[in-house]
Amino acid sequence: MAIRTIIEPFRIKSVEPIRWTTREQRIELLRAAHYNLFLLPADDVLIDLLTDSGTGAMSTNQWAAVMQGDESYAGSKSFDHFRDSVQDIFSYHHVIPTHQGRAAERILFSVMCKKGDIVPNNTHFDTTRANVEFVGAEAVDIPIPEAKQPGIVHPFKGNMDVAALEELIAKHGRERIPLVMLTITNNSGGGQPVSMQNAQAVSAVCRKHGIPLYFDACRFAENAYFIKLREKGYNDKTPKQIAQEMFLLGDGCTMSAKKDGMANIGGFLCTNDDLLAAQEKNLLILTEGYPTYGGLAGRDLEAIAVGLQEALLEDYLRYRITSTGYLGNHIAEQGVPIVQPPGGHAIYLDARAFLPHVPLDQFPGVALANELYIEGGIRTVEIGRLMFGNAAKWDLVRLAIPRRVYTQSHIDYVIEVILEVWRKREQVHGLRITSEAPFLRHFTAKLEPLATVAAPV
Ligand SMILES: Cc1ncc(COP(=O)(O)O)c(C=O)c1O
Repeated sequence: MAIRTIIEPFRIKSVEPIRWTTREQRIELLRAAHYNLFLLPADDVLIDLLTDSGTGAMSTNQWAAVMQGDESYAGSKSFDHFRDSVQDIFSYHHVIPTHQGRAAERILFSVMCKKGDIVPNNTHFDTTRANVEFVGAEAVDIPIPEAKQPGIVHPFKGNMDVAALEELIAKHGRERIPLVMLTITNNSGGGQPVSMQNAQAVSAVCRKHGIPLYFDACRFAENAYFIKLREKGYNDKTPKQIAQEMFLLGDGCTMSAKKDGMANIGGFLCTNDDLLAAQEKNLLILTEGYPTYGGLAGRDLEAIAVGLQEALLEDYLRYRITSTGYLGNHIAEQGVPIVQPPGGHAIYLDARAFLPHVPLDQFPGVALANELYIEGGIRTVEIGRLMFGNAAKWDLVRLAIPRRVYTQSHIDYVIEVILEVWRKREQVHGLRITSEAPFLRHFTAKLEPLATVAAPV
């Protein structure tokens, strides 16, 4: 029998209540949060799709491992479990734990980059870009041209433009490019995967010029599953074999274990370079902690050790990718503009196409995200002009799905709310900023709604 119903490959042992609010309450709550969903108390959110980062549910095996956490300051058994699990998949010589992904980024770029350097990436995530720029280097995004058009369907829209990489190296010289990064999957580009063929081509260019290749590996398991589904020659391989093959193409990685590490906190930095590793560990000691815990508790290391392996289980990945696709396809069928095809961890609404009457300097992405909250208590995030300023190539609203947290009926509810906002879209209007921080302003910016709907541009 061909089964069409998506069922979660787990039973629920512990439940966490979520709270209904009225539309009037939400209007008031949003005003009090200065129209920035980051400033909203989580308790006032019904379905929280702000991020898939650190919001997943841990398994019974992870909780059992937590109880075995060895909290010794140096040389704990938990570090050995963590390192062995990471190396089993990633194979890099040095595994440096950090409290989350951005700490790995800060250490990596502090050690490898200086003012005037250039770091190419398919698309930098916001913290990655900020950490590159913080050391005075330039973060350059070179996704394939298809990635720039949200409506175009491409099986590996996360791919890097290899010709653009060659051009960048020819133009600026190898000396100004201390490393190349490949983000799998490409979060800011729509949660789109990178093919093995593309990773091989990028790796070949890097090796030809003697430039190290690092993966931003946050969603490596989802990327591996897309390769299994879509790339010729990989159907018979396990997601783990595919991930292992991909990491052999690089020299190291940064990782936020809050994604495909299936943990609520944690990350790591890997490298094959002994000299760099020594410098990185020195910096780690300065701000994160001793190299066998790096700002994490032993129990966190245990949870990650188990989580990394669970993220690669095929039953889990099938359910995850199918469920995200179900959400995307259902709204797209009704005309809602989304980044096509549906991503692995998230669906991205194209706010510019959704709200064509809202000028770009009035933050259509923020306007749409706020409306989803008012309509149904759903929290999402803008990835656009508020996040990236004038560098924004698009205005998206990301609905990131926490791992193993929401059921299919929650997903059906989200579809219902989006379609309702779609019907009323002409009534949504823009906003302006009233205060902002110099870096990563989207986290704390305060905004206010513009009273009237602007004339179409
Ligand atoms: C692609 C990518 N890189 C890096 C990060 C940063 O990781 P963290 O939030 O753990 O610092 C994220 C987080 O969302 C991400 O999606």
